Amino acid sequence: MKEQLEKIYECANSEIEKAQSIAELEEVKGKYLSRKGEFNEIKKNLKNLPDDEKRVVGSLANEITQKLESSIKTRFEAFYQKELNEKLMKDKIDITLPGKFIPQGHVHPLTSTTNEIVSILQSLGFSVVPSEFSPEVETEYYNFDMLNVPKDHPARDVQDTFYTTIAKNVVLRSQTSGAQIHAMEGQKPPIRVIAPGRVYRNENINARKNNFFHQIEGLYVDKDITFGDLKGVLNEFIRIYFGASRPTRFRSSFFPFTEPSAEIDVQCIMCEGKGCKICSGTGWLEILGAGMVDPNVLKGVGIDPDVYTGFAFGMGVERLAMLKYAIDDIRLFFNNDERFLNQF
Ligand code: DAH
Repeated sequence: MKEQLEKIYECANSEIEKAQSIAELEEVKGKYLSRKGEFNEIKKNLKNLPDDEKRVVGSLANEITQKLESSIKTRFEAFYQKELNEKLMKDKIDITLPGKFIPQGHVHPLTSTTNEIVSILQSLGFSVVPSEFSPEVETEYYNFDMLNVPKDHPARDVQDTFYTTIAKNVVLRSQTSGAQIHAMEGQKPPIRVIAPGRVYRNENINARKNNFFHQIEGLYVDKDITFGDLKGVLNEFIRIYFGASRPTRFRSSFFPFTEPSAEIDVQCIMCEGKGCKICSGTGWLEILGAGMVDPNVLKGVGIDPDVYTGFAFGMGVERLAMLKYAIDDIRLFFNNDERFLNQF
């Protein structure tokens, strides 16, 4: 029986060594060491042996079992280690390799121009209105009626303004001026606000016109506000935005919601006043509209025009960006050509 044990031990040992995988090793383990394994069969027969032999064979069987268990364990560990090493090698990353280049985006020139204009006006004491004062989908009431725009004014025509199908009288705003009304309804003077935002017009698109663009509206209402204040604020704004050396002029004009009204020009940045194609030979470029808030508009929102006066202005962001950066086609802002955008 001792020999039988030793023979089985040798067989088991050589099978352990030959095993090429964890699965094969499991098989060997099952064959020899499980409950139905060969050693257990022998152990079952021990009881038939005489006592002294039983002890010798019994302890030999235990010793052999332990040895086999330990060599199986050693091989198991070797296999695990090998598998782990292979996995680590497969997943290995070379941290010295240069990373993938991920191009970084940057702020669109219209956004940076808006931010610049807004921060200049903020430095002059204006605050941006809350967004609910400046909706892009607007009623005719705010976009036209309350701004003193007559019912038969051509700007109301569908050829100029986009009407929605949401309800009769609901338009895509054609100007940010409606924000003036919201601001005056929402607070008492003194009011000193700006409203940047997108506006829509039913235009044929060309180098100068797009069917949407951006404006920044300004409004200052308080006691004793004069045209002199308007000139002071706008001249200061232009001086900061275009640089101190750029001459400006105020030209008399008309807007339904201001009286008197003015258009403000800066000297042409291309020809410096000599006259060129950009300024149509005039030497001047129009950059914004402005005026003293019409008493009718103040009355409409319940502000007494005998107590309060105010000025308003509106400027086109695209136009101001085009003039500053000598951009000759408004469509460049909207077609996302990186060759254009990367210059900013
Ligand atoms: N809303 C005018 C436009 O879109 C611009 C404008 C002119 C705004 C005079 C004003 C203003 O606030 O006082 O053409």
